Amino acid sequence: MHRVPLAVVCACVMATVVPSAQQAAPPASAPDKPVVAVIGTGTLAGTLGPAIGRAGYRVVYGSRDPVRDSVRALVARSGPNAAAVTPRDATAAAAIVVLAVPRNVLDEVSDGLGTLDGKIVIDVSGGQKRVAADGYLELVPGPSGSERLQSRHATARVVRVNLPLMAYFVDPLLVGTPPTILIAGNDPRARESVARLIFDLGLDPWDAGPLRFAQVFDAINTMALVPAQQGRNEGYELRLMPSAPLSCFADMSQLFGFGRPGELENVRPFPRRAPPIPCEEWRRRLGW
Ligand SMILES: NC(=O)c1ccc[n+]([C@@H]2O[C@H](COP(=O)([O-])OP(=O)(O)OC[C@H]3O[C@@H](n4cnc5c(N)ncnc54)[C@H](OP(=O)(O)O)[C@@H]3O)[C@@H](O)[C@H]2O)c1
Repeated sequence: MHRVPLAVVCACVMATVVPSAQQAAPPASAPDKPVVAVIGTGTLAGTLGPAIGRAGYRVVYGSRDPVRDSVRALVARSGPNAAAVTPRDATAAAAIVVLAVPRNVLDEVSDGLGTLDGKIVIDVSGGQKRVAADGYLELVPGPSGSERLQSRHATARVVRVNLPLMAYFVDPLLVGTPPTILIAGNDPRARESVARLIFDLGLDPWDAGPLRFAQVFDAINTMALVPAQQGRNEGYELRLMPSAPLSCFADMSQLFGFGRPGELENVRPFPRRAPPIPCEEWRRRLGW
């Protein structure tokens, strides 16, 4: 059985001696791959950052202390061109900025990054939860953290990514099939760039549309804690299974009175590992 060390799930702190973290703003990564700034050097950054480096992207960590030993060790295992600088310098050098910092400091940290104009800012933080009267968790109602971030930084292109267990960044085939990674954001081209990154990490991106659907991610993630609250020894990842599209059988806009999303001309399909099953095949399978 494939076993993932506990350290991979919980934290990746290395104690090996490594070269100094680079201080200067770095050059670009591979021509087709944007530079990715990872703000923070903690548990998530320690698994996600090296995976991004292995996928051929240049990773620049933004740290309050870019020369401390643990940060140098992280840089050393994040690809040959990785670097660590201040959060502001990392942001300036990158087209994609991942906020791998605790949710309670998101405002403070994002305010200190300098201009975020046009940058893709990835939020991975979950919703704020509380214990309800029945003892189960519930979401604190209101806009998601991603929506608040977007309101705070109007010219940034905030994208919310519903990440899997951190161990997947070490082995995306941990359970044999890549989990589905929901991606929401108000700019379809920004969602597409993030989808490419997620795909390159070996995971399957899924276009969840505008940023307000981040509230759904938070709801799913709160529900996913029910097994733990019940003491069930079960773990799950989200995997959307291809099924027959209703649009193969009916005019959906007529059926449900859909509007036409204003962004449609900028929406392109996310990368996928297998082509979609055509309508003819679904009709054949269902005897239509
Ligand atoms: N699978 C998932 O989806 C998943 C899993 C884990 C975490 N997360 C999310 O990822 C985010 C980071 O979680 P984490 O577990 O990696 O956190 P963490 O281990 O506490 O690390 C956070 C990092 O943020 C930086 N930071 C900047 N300003 C800070 C401040 N004022 N206080 C504390 N740290 C500050 C620190 O790096 P420097 O000291 O170098 O500045 C620190 O290492 C959270 O939103 C968490 O919910 C998601």
